[in-house]
Amino acid sequence: NKVVLAYSGGVDTSVCIPYLKQEWGVEEVITLAADLGQGDELEPIREKALKSGASQSLVIDATQSFVKDYAFPSIQANALYENRYPLSTALARPLIAKLLVEAAAEYGADAVAHGCTGKGNDQVRFDVAIAALNPDLKVLVPAREWGMSREETIAYGERFGIPSPVKKSSPYSIDRNLLGRSIEAGPLEDPWTEALEEVFELTKAIADTPNEPEYVEIGFEKGIPVSLNGEMLNPIDLITQLNKKAGDHGFGRIDMMENRLVGIKSREIYEAPALLVLIHAHRDLESLTLTKDVTQYKRGIEETYSNLVYNGLWYSPLKGALDAFVHQTQERVSGTVRVKLFKGNAAIVGRQSSKTLYTPELATYGSDDKFDHRAAEGFIYVWGLPTRVWSQNLRT
Ligand code: ARG
Ligand code: SIN
Repeated sequence: NKVVLAYSGGVDTSVCIPYLKQEWGVEEVITLAADLGQGDELEPIREKALKSGASQSLVIDATQSFVKDYAFPSIQANALYENRYPLSTALARPLIAKLLVEAAAEYGADAVAHGCTGKGNDQVRFDVAIAALNPDLKVLVPAREWGMSREETIAYGERFGIPSPVKKSSPYSIDRNLLGRSIEAGPLEDPWTEALEEVFELTKAIADTPNEPEYVEIGFEKGIPVSLNGEMLNPIDLITQLNKKAGDHGFGRIDMMENRLVGIKSREIYEAPALLVLIHAHRDLESLTLTKDVTQYKRGIEETYSNLVYNGLWYSPLKGALDAFVHQTQERVSGTVRVKLFKGNAAIVGRQSSKTLYTPELATYGSDDKFDHRAAEGFIYVWGLPTRVWSQNLRT
């Protein structure tokens, strides 16, 4: 009769504490707030959980693991859901689920809980990840069942000493971590309405960006970003610095209609400057260092991989198998990519690698050309043979 609750400090997760105790008879609620580089002050959040009735309030810094174990593999897979969304929110869920399961074991809890609603992707990601890590653990999801409106939720919380949001609460639903921000709801629910500048925090409006381009050189080792402008950086610093650089040039915004797992289309705004630069740069470096067949085959793997991550199957046999494939392909994906940041763009303008498969003597039109032009004739004869046969057949 002890529950570990994923805690963000917001109204919904705070109300979950008295709700679990009053309505569902839970004796002890232990909250777990994960620091994923969202930039929130965590001490007030820790205290708020205790004031809201938690018996213990855990804060776990998992930023390093978030980047190394979740973001970097996803970059190696060039993962973009529906070709656009770099999964900045989706990647955090399996990690938080893992922290919940570990805490449940450590504190002897018989269930875990989270504050997701019943129409989003996040509930699926939590529930399925928890099931994968400990199929015997119960998952309690109060907000899926309490049927309270926003106002009712706030009123319920006030009865148990949870302060209502001080400022007139934002109409948006926002999820934030080191990789980016996801913004939805409020005025954004009309797909025709342009997002107001107020929704953005990590990226500047083009009107406010520098009038001079900035170049960044990103170094990769085996598909993992390791340096910026020649300086070796730890994963957190690398993402932090690149978010700032790319965001200052207005790069990293996405405005899309998205197909949720639960069948709903929703309008989503994302900011993920560093993550998007890194995926584009990484894919470019692959085009220099991977063979044609691996590059092209990997595109299909990447789409499946993105769908798995989006759909909550981070811990699953197919995901494990795709990880093995991706890992195998990254052996020689090392080198440097040069990116030009300017007015909302991150253009790849150069790439180099000691593992390059680009062969100037084969590509050149100059006098040092080593490509055997005459060999092309026989190749084309065989390559074109089925087409010739087909065409002749049409004429008879
Ligand atoms: N639609 C995105 C996803 O499924 C973001 C969800 C973010 N959550 C939020 N409360 N805004 O990953
Ligand atoms: C939620 O409902 O928890 C947020 C939206 C989503 O998960 O897609």
